[in-house]
Amino acid sequence: MKLLILGATGPTGRHLADLALRSGDSVTTLVRNPTALGDLAEKVTPVTGDATSHRDIAAAAAGQDAIVSALGRGNSVRADGLFTQASAAVIGAADEAGVSRLVWLSSFGVGSTFAESSATQKTIYRTLLRSIYADKEIADNRIRSSGLDWTVVYPTRLTHGPAKGTYSAGDRLPMKGNPTISRADVAAFMHRAAHGSDWIHRSPVITD
Ligand SMILES: NC(=O)c1ccc[n+]([C@@H]2O[C@H](COP(=O)([O-])OP(=O)(O)OC[C@H]3O[C@@H](n4cnc5c(N)ncnc54)[C@H](OP(=O)(O)O)[C@@H]3O)[C@@H](O)[C@H]2O)c1
Repeated sequence: MKLLILGATGPTGRHLADLALRSGDSVTTLVRNPTALGDLAEKVTPVTGDATSHRDIAAAAAGQDAIVSALGRGNSVRADGLFTQASAAVIGAADEAGVSRLVWLSSFGVGSTFAESSATQKTIYRTLLRSIYADKEIADNRIRSSGLDWTVVYPTRLTHGPAKGTYSAGDRLPMKGNPTISRADVAAFMHRAAHGSDWIHRSPVITD
């Protein structure tokens, strides 16, 4: 499968790229700074560009079977419009390039999943993550309204732990406390989703 990965220089995106390469996919990455790819640069087709640019994504998306996004704001608690701008650019570019499959990483607690979150989680989502979550909600809704074969993924708090493969995934998973899932497991779920049709037009929650 030919995959365009957005956010491959971030920790979840790196897991995704490694997994995809191990499974025999041909991987293109759209990154702002190709040197940040490190050893990945020689294993993928690196395209330099910005994920908020329709033109940059369209150039990278041509000929791909799917686009998988692990875009994020790193340690920043300010969205700065990343998700709203990137979702608009991705939808437009995917249409233009004729790529129908999109797997998009959101966060548990965004949109309707907020109602399923625990009291502890709600406090964090309403305060620290407020800007990021508001921006993500607009982006996620826009993706669901697009004509693409989308999957929007809602993981709980991410860790740098190893892939365990024992996580739960479902359309609704009501929470207690502040559960976690490793970025490696999230990447494995997203990669599997991109390869199959089970999660098309669904918004799965995933957690350990
Ligand atoms: N932390 C948590 O507990 C948690 C929980 C649930 C969901 N999430 C979500 O999971 C996602 C991934 O998080 P993560 O910690 O693995 O990654 P991250 O550190 O947020 O990495 C973000 C990636 O996005 C790229 N990026 C940002 N803006 C870009 C732009 N304009 N153009 C191109 N690339 C851009 C970064 O590239 P550069 O190298 O150029 O900066 C980097 O590769 C995020 O959306 C986050 O909100 C996080």
